[in-house]
Amino acid sequence: MAQYDAIADLYQDSKRLPFRKPIERYTLFDALGDIRGMTVLDLACGGGYYTRLLKRAGAGEVTGVDESREMIRLARREEEREALGCAYVCRDAADFEPRIGAADRVVAMYLLHYAGTCEKLVRFCRVCHDALRPGGRIVGFNDNVLSPPRGTVSFRKYGIEKTGPRTPSEGAPIRYRFTNDDGRQFEFHNFFLEPRTYDRAFREAGFRDFQWLGVSLDPRERENPFWDDFLRDPPVIAFTATKPSDPGT
Ligand SMILES: C[S@@+](CC[C@H](N)C(=O)[O-])C[C@H]1O[C@@H](n2cnc3c(N)ncnc32)[C@H](O)[C@@H]1O
Repeated sequence: MAQYDAIADLYQDSKRLPFRKPIERYTLFDALGDIRGMTVLDLACGGGYYTRLLKRAGAGEVTGVDESREMIRLARREEEREALGCAYVCRDAADFEPRIGAADRVVAMYLLHYAGTCEKLVRFCRVCHDALRPGGRIVGFNDNVLSPPRGTVSFRKYGIEKTGPRTPSEGAPIRYRFTNDDGRQFEFHNFFLEPRTYDRAFREAGFRDFQWLGVSLDPRERENPFWDDFLRDPPVIAFTATKPSDPGT
């Protein structure tokens, strides 16, 4: 049973937490740019929250992939409620065989930190690289490995609490506790890998320009001090990389 099978509904509800829209969603779509007409692969799509937003933003073909049957069930249920034309596949992203070079964009919202080893991370990155056309880009979010929790760190006012070892080593579990707007709590964990392991994995997969993007705040919220603590030490972080047009460069 996949980790998210037991928390699928709670996780979907957490998409209503206040940081999702002005930070997570804003940063993602800002980094993606104009995706109208593009073919997009949404790896670790969960319940299809972003899959559907990508389609609504004008993407052409959008496919979501997730290892959790329950998450995919929720995504398909939404598609049945209101058909947007999103397709879903239930599969471990590490085993997913994409159409080679078909995607203009790969979106990986909280996939990569489920790799507990460099080898697994390279596998995830290879799948993304295979999926992309030359010049295509991956954009995603991750646990913020640039600032791992040493002990418990509370972002409670944003609904997030994180716990990790004082000295995080490769593959160490990072435990998250979310508190939804209605007070319901749930937990899950991902894995810490050093920032240099990310650099290495992206390079080994064939990317040349992997970079952490930080997070940005929707300009309409810029005067709101509620976000100061989040922005000072973001619990999550965006990244991007481009598949070289010339593999030799
Ligand atoms: C934090 S949720 C994010 C869901 C969605 N991307 C979003 O932002 O709403 C992480 C998702 O990653 C999925 N996941 C974890 N490991 C995976 C793997 N190896 N292959 C595919 N999906 C995976 C989980 O099932 C879960 O749905």
